[in-house]
Amino acid sequence: MKKNIVILISGGGSNMAAIASAAQQQGWQERHDIRIAAVISNRPDAGGLALAREAGIATAVVDHKAYASREDFDTALAQAIDAHAPALVVLAGFMRVLTPGFVAHYEGRLLNIHPSLLPAFPGLNTHQRAIDAGCKVAGCTVHEVTAELDVGPILDQAVVGVLPCDTAQTLAARVLEQEHQIYSRAVLAFLLGKNESGQAPSATCPR
Ligand code: GAR
Repeated sequence: MKKNIVILISGGGSNMAAIASAAQQQGWQERHDIRIAAVISNRPDAGGLALAREAGIATAVVDHKAYASREDFDTALAQAIDAHAPALVVLAGFMRVLTPGFVAHYEGRLLNIHPSLLPAFPGLNTHQRAIDAGCKVAGCTVHEVTAELDVGPILDQAVVGVLPCDTAQTLAARVLEQEHQIYSRAVLAFLLGKNESGQAPSATCPR
């Protein structure tokens, strides 16, 4: 059965581009009938919009500044998303807190990537907080989105060592490289796992 993905971005869109590139290189459409139907941004100036268009993906903007309330914005956003009948909505650097109604509407088909090893450092400024806390490792997490911010079931993580010379910027750059590795993998596994067993897959233990 055909499965559409809608990706939401707010900025540079490098995670979106990594997923689009993996989808193309791995033949998601030909092999699994999975396609990225649209990239939607809440910011008209998001750099990722041009990247999406270069990759031949339809784009749309739902500018949060045009709406009086969070609820009104989320209603308009959901309309734009639902026009593509998505099997999965992927938050890729989408920097808006979503209303409980929006999250409930996409329950079981809404993923996020967060630049920390959750449950450590939910919220913002994750890299500086990891450095300030003296962490020896940092990383990133792909998780299902639930009503509470950055708390849903964890699907995949990658670990990055924190170096004594690290700044938030240098650490963020190394974590971002790992984000690009794990997000496309988690998206595909989630869609295929759901497809086959009705549940997302998890790692297996040695016998
Ligand atoms: C990524 O590091 C992502 O983990 C983070 O924003 C960046 C977006 O980069 N997301 C969050 O902080 C969500 N709370 P990108 O636009 O280049 O993919």
